[in-house]
Amino acid sequence: MTEKRKKIMMVFGTRPEAIKMAPLYLELKRRGFQTVVCVTAQHRELLDQVLELFEIVPEYDLNIMKQNQSLDYITSEVLVKVGKVLDDVKPDILLVHGDTTTTFSAALSAFYRKIPVGHVEAGLRTDNIYSPFPEEINRRLTDDITTYYFAPTQANKDRLLSEGKTADNIFITENTVIDAFLTVANNKNCSLEDWIPEFPTTKKIITLTAHRRESFGIKLRNIFKAIKEFIIQNKDYRVIYPVHPNPNVLKAADEILKNVDRINLIEPLPYLPFVHLLKNSHIVLTDSGGIQEEVPSLGIPVMVLREETERLEAVKAGTVKLVGTDYKIILDELQKLVSNKQYYDSYKTKKNPYGTGNASRLICNVLENIEE
Ligand code: UD1
Ligand code: UDP
Repeated sequence: MTEKRKKIMMVFGTRPEAIKMAPLYLELKRRGFQTVVCVTAQHRELLDQVLELFEIVPEYDLNIMKQNQSLDYITSEVLVKVGKVLDDVKPDILLVHGDTTTTFSAALSAFYRKIPVGHVEAGLRTDNIYSPFPEEINRRLTDDITTYYFAPTQANKDRLLSEGKTADNIFITENTVIDAFLTVANNKNCSLEDWIPEFPTTKKIITLTAHRRESFGIKLRNIFKAIKEFIIQNKDYRVIYPVHPNPNVLKAADEILKNVDRINLIEPLPYLPFVHLLKNSHIVLTDSGGIQEEVPSLGIPVMVLREETERLEAVKAGTVKLVGTDYKIILDELQKLVSNKQYYDSYKTKKNPYGTGNASRLICNVLENIEE
């Protein structure tokens, strides 16, 4: 590292950003960078769970979350409030993560001040601007104002190159979620009895998560109806569903899945018990980005409840299956997984394309070598 310690500021606001930035933050501290953490708190409770687990105390907390907040609201609040923090801190580099509205707005604030942006998890695309919505546009616009690209995979780098981004500034780094996941899965114990109703259970656990904006309405309802039908037909299985607090999700989940035998609707789990729940799961159903990346480390089948995914490496590696939101297709795929042992077992041997837990170290190596 050069004589002057670089000042690295991080902005994040939601649960997945916090999980994926936490190991990088800890590695930056370990290496002696000056660090400043600013949370927008686009999420409140979900964010705080992660800060507590990784013992991160932000220097700035913008506390913006409102119930059922609009995209306009998040965008403008973050833009203005992060701008003030940037004027105060004057970092050498601003790090943002992924594709949330916090990500894009914070990057834009930095761009307006000509502060270089480092984008962690750069180069993911579906090529459909409405799926995921608004994330596909958030990450594209962020990449247009980014200086340093931390691309998890070769495919992400190739995509950035095809868009004309400067090759010298693109670094393949794996995905920091694997760093977080392995640390928590291997080093921290957890009593699931404290978190999961009727645990331990003689039933095989299916873990479900769903929260995407583009699924609200009929798609989410189809997903829930298919899962309900599967559980009615298959008495050896139990669904554990930590329901995302977005009111659009809560309402549909309550209407269709509440009071169904062997379906447990529970509060969102802190990351530690959630990782341990995944380890105890037989199948995972999800529309989450991060879960598509984490679960392949466990060799458990992941059914992706979305029409498109930007995680095509996982689909190609055979670690996840893109099943969409159609009632019959979801039901058929679940039946296939539980009735065809050879098919189920094929997931056990696949390699996780998102790395083995080195992402934070690789990103810090790059940051150390950047000449100011
Ligand atoms: C956001 C991100 C999405 C990411 C997801 C991860 C955007 C536009 N969306 O979606 O990319 O995949 O987070 O979970 O950036 N709520 C609470 N408590 C919380 C969090 C949320 O009550 O701790 C409720 C609030 O009513 C809030 C609503 O959920 O207004 C929606 O939160 P928001 O961050 O706008 O959208 P998400 O659907 O969580
Ligand atoms: N997660 C969690 N508790 C839960 C559900 C998910 O800790 O109840 C974790 C999960 O392991 C993953 C991250 O939250 O690391 C994913 O967040 P989310 O699905 O909200 O967002 P996305 O990845 O889709 O942006």
